[in-house]
Amino acid sequence: MGDSLTIRIDEALALVSRDDGRTWALSQSAAAEIRQIVSGTEQSDELHLMTAVAAASLAEAHAVRPRPIPTSVPATVMFSGPEVKLGPLARPITRSFGEVIGSRRSERSYRSLGPGDLATLLVTAARVQAWRESEDGYQMTARPVPSAGARHPYELAILIDDVTSLRRGLWHFDPTRCTLIFRHCDQVRLEPAIAAVREAADLRSAPPAIIFPVAHMDRTLARYPGGSTLVWRDAGSLLAVLHLTASACELSSSIIGTSGVLETTAATQDVGALAVGARGRSRTAEKRGA
Ligand SMILES: Cc1cc2nc3c(=O)[nH]c(=O)nc-3n(C[C@H](O)[C@H](O)[C@H](O)COP(=O)(O)O)c2cc1C
Repeated sequence: MGDSLTIRIDEALALVSRDDGRTWALSQSAAAEIRQIVSGTEQSDELHLMTAVAAASLAEAHAVRPRPIPTSVPATVMFSGPEVKLGPLARPITRSFGEVIGSRRSERSYRSLGPGDLATLLVTAARVQAWRESEDGYQMTARPVPSAGARHPYELAILIDDVTSLRRGLWHFDPTRCTLIFRHCDQVRLEPAIAAVREAADLRSAPPAIIFPVAHMDRTLARYPGGSTLVWRDAGSLLAVLHLTASACELSSSIIGTSGVLETTAATQDVGALAVGARGRSRTAEKRGA
């Protein structure tokens, strides 16, 4: 596995990597030659269940190691805009863990949320509880959710459609200050994300809120060069904790398997989502059950 190479060529990138994360840029001529080979190859009738990407992910997971030489990357992003403080709105959760884990289900019928519901969910599941600087200068944080190397490579983008007293549009959750920061309400930019979530969960209309974990790959890769699978595994932890916390708050929620439906860059992308609302049958009920 150590000598295996994975090649990624798209409009913006032409890269070749070893499983341990060492990466080189391919020349335009090499990329063009590889494209030519692929376009000239007859597709086999055989169904390949093990794709090159899946094989590379398994090999990368096997090879993942911390980088010996520290490299620094920022551990947070900063947005400015109108803010709502969530701390004072959050309520204590009284349901026992046994009750929550014993009754959790994916639910796809949503009524509008109160700001206290959203505050309780985000503050309970995603706040920063403590921090310290690591040897590479990275701000390591402790949160309710575990993360490989405490790198916490996800920021939460919250797409609000129907939360009492909160403006519709895209918000950012600041996990240190426990505030929501308004980003924009440009429906043209947001509609593809709403449509993708509705389609994936078979919903009649937009859920009251959708929480999108947005991956910042560099946070984890700066410490683990072959660590992209750690980022995927972190997404599972984060979404599971958000979903269980929603259940503990007696909210209706479902993990959604979309990815890259909000605006993305080469290094940041939404990975999955959590659709959330208050419990009860409503206009958003999934089509198949309605
Ligand atoms: C990674 C992941 C992706 C999922 N994607 C979707 C999805 O796109 N649409 C959807 O309706 N449910 C989605 N779900 C929810 C599953 O369909 C659900 O967990 C499964 O049917 C079992 O039901 P339960 O969660 O009620 O036990 C997803 C769950 C996980 C863990």
